[in-house]
Amino acid sequence: MRLDVISIFPEYLAALDISLIGKARRDGLIDLVVHDLRDFTHDRHRTVDDTPYGGGAGMVMKPQPWAEALGYVDRLAPGPTRLIVPTPSGRPFTQTFARELVHEPHLVFACGRYEGIDERVYDYAATDLGWNVTPVSLGDYVLNGGEVAVLAMVEAIGRLIPGVVGNAESLVEESHEGGLLEYPVYTKPAHWEIDGVAREVPPILLSGNHSAIAKWRHQQRLERTAARRPDLLHTSQFMAADAIDITP
Ligand code: ADE
Repeated sequence: MRLDVISIFPEYLAALDISLIGKARRDGLIDLVVHDLRDFTHDRHRTVDDTPYGGGAGMVMKPQPWAEALGYVDRLAPGPTRLIVPTPSGRPFTQTFARELVHEPHLVFACGRYEGIDERVYDYAATDLGWNVTPVSLGDYVLNGGEVAVLAMVEAIGRLIPGVVGNAESLVEESHEGGLLEYPVYTKPAHWEIDGVAREVPPILLSGNHSAIAKWRHQQRLERTAARRPDLLHTSQFMAADAIDITP
């Protein structure tokens, strides 16, 4: 999978050199290149922004550096391309969406700053380059720019690429896979004391009874989802099948 990230703060993306995503890049599973938008400016100050037409607060990113950067990336990696534009006004990023994006051969992430990118850039990408342009939001809050959102999206998408996460089973039972949150986990010691208070691991987990453990974990997922994210339960298939009581 080919990924390109365009940003005025390429050093923000240095985190993509480490941990599982960094290893996946070194192993050749992810071909990721970070570009500095200012390399596509032509003035002494490497200007990427200007005041908004129509007035209002803040600055808007100029179309020319963006068009040149996107055109450059298109020549580097021609072929079907999806442009992901992180913005609070985009489509919500979910696990389902990550699973959709992992099948794309080429993703380009355009990290906007200030009040956003001149809208004509998206029309250029769609019409002249033939790219599929998708604004995407990480959640209903405002970040200072797209970089943090790209770190989150690349990690969520990248770990779905076969071979990136060593134990493929750990992808199956985690939160949001199957529409439920993850069950609680424990490790040694079984009996743990702090400040004079003993805290035990639930005995069922020490029983060796694998079917009983699986049942307990499923029930924990249901209860946790009901307590923390009832919105997920109401839309999932689990309500009718498991008929748990989620009255507060
Ligand atoms: N850029 C600024 N805020 C954002 C958000 N909530 N999601 C994605 N990109 C953003």
